[in-house]
Amino acid sequence: MKSLPRTFTAQESFDSSVVNRRTLLGAALGVGGTALLAACGSQGQGVASSPSASSSATSSSAVPSPSASASAAASGIPSPTGAASSAAPSSTASASASASASASGSATLALAQPSVESQPDSLRCLVNKMRPFAQLDWEPSDLVEFYGHQLRAEAAKTADTMIDAAATDGVTLLVSSAYRSYAVQQQTYQYWVSVNGQQVADQLSARPGYSEHQTGLAIDFASPEGCRLEECYRDTLAGQWLAKNAPRYGYILRFPDGRQSVTGYRFEPWHYRYVGVQIAQEYVASGAKTFEEFIGTGAAPDYASAS
Ligand code: DAL
Ligand code: ZN
Repeated sequence: MKSLPRTFTAQESFDSSVVNRRTLLGAALGVGGTALLAACGSQGQGVASSPSASSSATSSSAVPSPSASASAAASGIPSPTGAASSAAPSSTASASASASASASGSATLALAQPSVESQPDSLRCLVNKMRPFAQLDWEPSDLVEFYGHQLRAEAAKTADTMIDAAATDGVTLLVSSAYRSYAVQQQTYQYWVSVNGQQVADQLSARPGYSEHQTGLAIDFASPEGCRLEECYRDTLAGQWLAKNAPRYGYILRFPDGRQSVTGYRFEPWHYRYVGVQIAQEYVASGAKTFEEFIGTGAAPDYASAS
Protein backbone atom coordinates (compact mmCIF):
# COMPACT_ATOMS: atom_id res chain seq x y z
CA MET A 1 0.00 0.00 0.00
CA LYS A 2 1.43 3.25 -1.07
CA SER A 3 2.29 5.93 1.43
CA LEU A 4 0.98 9.43 1.58
CA PRO A 5 1.91 12.26 3.87
CA ARG A 6 0.27 11.20 7.08
CA THR A 7 0.18 13.43 10.08
CA PHE A 8 -2.49 11.78 12.19
CA THR A 9 -2.37 8.49 13.96
CA ALA A 10 -4.79 8.99 16.80
CA GLN A 11 -8.24 7.47 16.79
CA GLU A 12 -10.98 10.00 16.29
CA SER A 13 -12.67 9.31 19.54
CA PHE A 14 -9.63 10.20 21.57
CA ASP A 15 -9.14 13.53 19.91
CA SER A 16 -9.22 16.30 22.44
CA SER A 17 -10.58 18.77 19.93
CA VAL A 18 -13.69 16.69 19.68
CA VAL A 19 -14.15 16.77 23.42
CA ASN A 20 -14.14 20.54 23.27
CA ARG A 21 -16.37 20.81 20.26
CA ARG A 22 -18.94 18.32 21.28
CA THR A 23 -20.65 19.77 24.27
CA LEU A 24 -23.82 18.77 25.96
CA LEU A 25 -26.70 17.92 23.71
CA GLY A 26 -30.23 16.65 24.19
CA ALA A 27 -31.16 13.53 26.03
CA ALA A 28 -30.92 10.22 24.24
CA LEU A 29 -34.13 8.65 23.04
CA GLY A 30 -35.10 5.47 24.77
CA VAL A 31 -36.05 2.65 22.46
CA GLY A 32 -37.28 -0.61 23.88
CA GLY A 33 -38.17 -3.90 22.34
CA THR A 34 -37.09 -7.43 21.72
CA ALA A 35 -34.21 -8.12 19.39
CA LEU A 36 -35.26 -9.31 16.00
CA LEU A 37 -33.08 -11.42 13.78
CA ALA A 38 -31.83 -9.84 10.62
CA ALA A 39 -28.83 -9.41 8.37
CA CYS A 40 -28.03 -6.65 5.91
CA GLY A 41 -31.56 -5.35 6.09
CA SER A 42 -33.22 -8.73 5.65
CA GLN A 43 -34.38 -11.28 8.15
CA GLY A 44 -31.63 -13.59 9.33
CA GLN A 45 -30.52 -15.66 12.26
CA GLY A 46 -28.72 -15.07 15.47
CA VAL A 47 -28.69 -12.62 18.32
CA ALA A 48 -25.96 -10.42 19.64
CA SER A 49 -23.65 -12.49 21.76
CA SER A 50 -21.07 -11.57 24.27
CA PRO A 51 -17.57 -11.68 22.89
CA SER A 52 -15.80 -14.80 23.99
CA ALA A 53 -12.53 -14.83 22.14
CA SER A 54 -12.06 -11.21 23.03
CA SER A 55 -12.11 -11.69 26.76
CA SER A 56 -8.38 -11.40 27.01
CA ALA A 57 -8.32 -8.42 24.70
CA THR A 58 -11.11 -6.66 26.49
CA SER A 59 -9.73 -7.39 29.91
CA SER A 60 -6.58 -5.60 28.90
CA SER A 61 -8.43 -2.66 27.45
CA ALA A 62 -9.39 -0.77 30.55
CA VAL A 63 -9.56 2.98 30.24
CA PRO A 64 -6.08 3.90 29.17
CA SER A 65 -4.06 6.40 31.05
CA PRO A 66 -3.21 9.47 28.97
CA SER A 67 0.18 9.45 30.60
CA ALA A 68 1.00 5.95 29.43
CA SER A 69 2.69 6.90 26.21
CA ALA A 70 3.31 3.37 24.91
CA SER A 71 -0.29 2.28 25.17
CA ALA A 72 -1.39 5.71 24.05
CA ALA A 73 0.45 5.27 20.79
CA ALA A 74 -1.22 1.93 20.24
CA SER A 75 -4.72 2.97 21.10
CA GLY A 76 -4.75 6.52 19.83
CA ILE A 77 -4.98 8.55 22.99
CA PRO A 78 -3.80 12.08 22.39
CA SER A 79 -0.61 12.96 24.16
CA PRO A 80 0.64 16.47 24.89
CA THR A 81 3.31 16.04 22.24
CA GLY A 82 1.42 13.83 19.86
CA ALA A 83 -0.11 14.63 16.51
CA ALA A 84 -3.60 14.53 17.87
CA SER A 85 -3.02 17.19 20.47
CA SER A 86 -1.26 19.38 17.95
CA ALA A 87 -4.44 19.41 15.94
CA ALA A 88 -6.56 20.63 18.83
CA PRO A 89 -8.37 23.85 18.00
CA SER A 90 -8.41 26.99 20.04
CA SER A 91 -11.08 27.36 22.65
CA THR A 92 -12.66 30.07 20.54
CA ALA A 93 -12.90 27.80 17.57
CA SER A 94 -14.32 25.06 19.76
CA ALA A 95 -16.95 27.33 21.21
CA SER A 96 -17.94 28.46 17.75
CA ALA A 97 -18.15 24.94 16.49
CA SER A 98 -20.20 23.91 19.48
CA ALA A 99 -22.64 26.71 18.89
CA SER A 100 -23.14 25.66 15.31
CA ALA A 101 -23.30 21.95 15.99
CA SER A 102 -26.34 20.45 14.37
CA ALA A 103 -28.39 19.01 17.14
CA SER A 104 -30.53 15.99 16.72
CA GLY A 105 -31.60 16.59 13.16
CA SER A 106 -35.11 16.91 11.83
CA ALA A 107 -35.33 13.94 9.54
CA THR A 108 -38.20 11.61 10.18
CA LEU A 109 -37.93 7.89 9.66
CA ALA A 110 -39.72 5.15 11.51
CA LEU A 111 -37.73 3.67 14.33
CA ALA A 112 -35.85 0.49 13.53
CA GLN A 113 -36.64 -2.71 15.35
CA PRO A 114 -33.67 -3.90 17.39
CA SER A 115 -31.74 -6.39 15.35
CA VAL A 116 -28.24 -7.66 14.67
CA GLU A 117 -25.89 -7.63 11.70
CA SER A 118 -24.96 -11.23 11.03
CA GLN A 119 -23.32 -10.60 7.64
CA PRO A 120 -20.78 -7.94 8.56
CA ASP A 121 -18.55 -8.86 5.62
CA SER A 122 -21.29 -7.81 3.18
CA LEU A 123 -20.91 -4.44 1.49
CA ARG A 124 -24.55 -3.86 2.40
CA CYS A 125 -24.00 -4.50 6.07
CA LEU A 126 -25.55 -1.98 8.39
CA VAL A 127 -24.13 -1.49 11.85
CA ASN A 128 -25.61 1.13 14.13
CA LYS A 129 -27.08 1.60 17.60
CA MET A 130 -29.95 -0.74 16.79
CA ARG A 131 -27.83 -3.24 14.85
CA PRO A 132 -24.73 -4.50 16.65
CA PHE A 133 -22.56 -7.22 15.19
CA ALA A 134 -24.21 -10.60 15.83
CA GLN A 135 -20.80 -11.67 17.07
CA LEU A 136 -19.83 -8.58 19.00
CA ASP A 137 -16.09 -9.04 18.55
CA TRP A 138 -16.23 -10.02 14.87
CA GLU A 139 -13.10 -9.27 12.88
CA PRO A 140 -12.68 -8.97 9.08
CA SER A 141 -10.50 -11.65 7.52
CA ASP A 142 -8.97 -9.56 4.77
CA LEU A 143 -7.51 -6.54 6.48
CA VAL A 144 -4.56 -4.87 4.80
CA GLU A 145 -2.25 -2.07 5.81
CA PHE A 146 -3.71 1.31 5.01
CA TYR A 147 -1.72 4.46 5.71
CA GLY A 148 -0.66 3.27 9.12
CA HIS A 149 -4.07 1.79 9.86
CA GLN A 150 -5.94 -1.22 8.53
CA LEU A 151 -8.83 -1.59 6.12
CA ARG A 152 -10.47 -4.42 4.20
CA ALA A 153 -8.65 -5.13 0.95
CA GLU A 154 -11.24 -3.98 -1.58
CA ALA A 155 -12.05 -0.84 0.39
CA ALA A 156 -8.35 -0.04 0.65
CA LYS A 157 -7.65 -0.59 -3.02
CA THR A 158 -10.54 1.62 -4.07
CA ALA A 159 -9.61 4.26 -1.52
CA ASP A 160 -6.14 4.33 -3.00
CA THR A 161 -7.66 5.06 -6.39
CA MET A 162 -9.78 7.77 -4.84
CA ILE A 163 -6.84 9.33 -3.01
CA ASP A 164 -4.89 9.37 -6.27
CA ALA A 165 -7.79 11.03 -8.06
CA ALA A 166 -8.02 13.69 -5.39
CA ALA A 167 -4.29 14.30 -5.67
CA THR A 168 -4.67 14.77 -9.40
CA ASP A 169 -7.20 17.47 -8.58
CA GLY A 170 -4.71 19.05 -6.21
CA VAL A 171 -6.46 17.81 -3.06
CA THR A 172 -4.68 15.86 -0.34
CA LEU A 173 -6.74 13.31 1.54
CA LEU A 174 -5.17 12.24 4.83
CA VAL A 175 -6.26 9.19 6.78
CA SER A 176 -7.05 9.73 10.43
CA SER A 177 -8.59 6.36 11.33
CA ALA A 178 -9.87 3.24 9.60
CA TYR A 179 -10.49 -0.25 11.03
CA ARG A 180 -10.96 -0.41 14.78
CA SER A 181 -11.26 -3.73 16.56
CA TYR A 182 -13.81 -4.42 19.29
CA ALA A 183 -11.07 -3.96 21.87
CA VAL A 184 -9.88 -0.66 20.45
CA GLN A 185 -13.44 0.61 20.17
CA GLN A 186 -14.03 -0.38 23.78
CA GLN A 187 -11.06 1.70 24.84
CA THR A 188 -12.20 4.53 22.64
CA TYR A 189 -15.75 4.57 23.94
CA GLN A 190 -14.79 4.17 27.58
CA TYR A 191 -12.31 6.98 27.27
CA TRP A 192 -15.01 9.32 26.00
CA VAL A 193 -17.41 8.26 28.69
CA SER A 194 -14.74 9.07 31.24
CA VAL A 195 -14.21 12.49 29.68
CA ASN A 196 -17.71 13.59 28.71
CA GLY A 197 -20.11 11.23 30.43
CA GLN A 198 -22.13 8.55 28.73
CA GLN A 199 -24.89 10.74 27.30
CA VAL A 200 -22.52 12.85 25.26
CA ALA A 201 -20.15 10.00 24.47
CA ASP A 202 -23.03 8.12 22.89
CA GLN A 203 -23.48 10.89 20.34
CA LEU A 204 -19.84 10.81 19.29
CA SER A 205 -18.55 7.32 19.67
CA ALA A 206 -20.08 3.90 19.19
CA ARG A 207 -20.07 1.34 21.94
CA PRO A 208 -17.86 -1.69 21.23
CA GLY A 209 -19.64 -4.10 18.93
CA TYR A 210 -21.71 -1.25 17.44
CA SER A 211 -19.11 0.69 15.44
CA GLU A 212 -18.95 0.77 11.68
CA HIS A 213 -15.19 1.06 12.02
CA GLN A 214 -15.19 -2.59 13.15
CA THR A 215 -16.43 -3.64 9.69
CA GLY A 216 -13.12 -2.56 8.19
CA LEU A 217 -15.07 -0.51 5.66
CA ALA A 218 -15.00 2.94 7.26
CA ILE A 219 -12.41 5.69 6.98
CA ASP A 220 -12.04 8.93 8.87
CA PHE A 221 -10.30 11.37 6.56
CA ALA A 222 -8.34 14.46 7.50
CA SER A 223 -6.87 17.42 5.64
CA PRO A 224 -3.62 19.38 5.68
CA GLU A 225 -5.81 22.40 6.30
CA GLY A 226 -6.78 21.13 9.73
CA CYS A 227 -10.33 20.89 11.01
CA ARG A 228 -9.63 17.31 11.88
CA LEU A 229 -12.73 15.64 13.27
CA GLU A 230 -14.57 18.91 13.39
CA GLU A 231 -17.57 20.13 11.47
CA CYS A 232 -15.39 22.63 9.64
CA TYR A 233 -13.86 19.65 7.84
CA ARG A 234 -16.82 20.02 5.52
CA ASP A 235 -15.34 23.31 4.29
CA THR A 236 -11.81 22.07 3.64
CA LEU A 237 -10.73 21.17 0.14
CA ALA A 238 -10.65 17.53 1.18
CA GLY A 239 -14.09 17.66 2.73
CA GLN A 240 -15.56 19.35 -0.31
CA TRP A 241 -13.84 16.97 -2.69
CA LEU A 242 -15.10 13.94 -0.79
CA ALA A 243 -18.64 15.22 -0.58
CA LYS A 244 -18.70 15.62 -4.34
CA ASN A 245 -16.68 12.63 -5.50
CA ALA A 246 -16.61 9.86 -2.88
CA PRO A 247 -19.68 7.98 -4.15
CA ARG A 248 -17.96 7.62 -7.51
CA TYR A 249 -15.43 5.46 -5.71
CA GLY A 250 -17.94 3.53 -3.65
CA TYR A 251 -17.77 5.64 -0.49
CA ILE A 252 -20.74 7.37 1.12
CA LEU A 253 -20.97 9.96 3.87
CA ARG A 254 -22.31 7.97 6.77
CA PHE A 255 -23.32 10.59 9.36
CA PRO A 256 -24.76 13.57 7.44
CA ASP A 257 -25.67 16.91 8.88
CA GLY A 258 -29.11 17.04 10.47
CA ARG A 259 -29.62 13.29 10.56
CA GLN A 260 -28.71 12.39 14.12
CA SER A 261 -32.29 11.32 14.66
CA VAL A 262 -31.69 8.60 12.08
CA THR A 263 -28.03 7.67 12.40
CA GLY A 264 -27.65 8.23 16.13
CA TYR A 265 -24.57 10.42 15.72
CA ARG A 266 -23.73 14.04 15.17
CA PHE A 267 -22.54 15.26 11.80
CA GLU A 268 -19.22 13.67 10.85
CA PRO A 269 -18.14 15.13 7.50
CA TRP A 270 -14.91 13.11 7.74
CA HIS A 271 -16.42 9.62 8.11
CA TYR A 272 -16.93 7.69 4.89
CA ARG A 273 -18.15 4.14 4.49
CA TYR A 274 -17.25 1.85 1.60
CA VAL A 275 -20.26 0.16 0.07
CA GLY A 276 -18.82 -0.47 -3.40
CA VAL A 277 -19.36 1.54 -6.54
CA GLN A 278 -22.62 -0.14 -7.55
CA ILE A 279 -24.34 0.30 -4.20
CA ALA A 280 -23.02 3.85 -3.91
CA GLN A 281 -24.53 4.67 -7.28
CA GLU A 282 -27.82 3.12 -6.20
CA TYR A 283 -27.64 5.08 -2.98
CA VAL A 284 -27.17 8.39 -4.77
CA ALA A 285 -29.88 7.60 -7.31
CA SER A 286 -32.30 6.66 -4.54
CA GLY A 287 -32.14 10.10 -3.00
CA ALA A 288 -31.70 8.57 0.44
CA LYS A 289 -29.92 10.80 2.93
CA THR A 290 -28.79 8.01 5.22
CA PHE A 291 -27.76 4.39 4.80
CA GLU A 292 -30.49 3.50 7.29
CA GLU A 293 -33.08 4.97 4.95
CA PHE A 294 -31.52 3.25 1.93
CA ILE A 295 -31.34 -0.19 3.55
CA GLY A 296 -34.81 0.29 4.94
CA THR A 297 -34.36 -0.84 8.49
CA GLY A 298 -35.50 2.42 10.05
CA ALA A 299 -33.95 5.02 12.30
CA ALA A 300 -31.42 4.16 14.98
CA PRO A 301 -31.20 7.21 17.22
CA ASP A 302 -30.26 5.25 20.31
CA TYR A 303 -29.55 1.85 21.74
CA ALA A 304 -32.37 -0.58 22.32
CA SER A 305 -31.43 -0.95 25.96
CA ALA A 306 -30.66 1.95 28.20
CA SER A 307 -27.13 0.90 29.15
N1 DAL B 1 -17.69 7.90 15.59
C1 DAL B 1 -18.39 6.75 15.07
C2 DAL B 1 -19.87 6.89 15.26
C3 DAL B 1 -17.91 5.48 15.70
O1 DAL B 1 -17.38 5.54 16.82
O2 DAL B 1 -18.08 4.44 15.10
ZN1 ZN C 1 -15.42 7.43 11.91
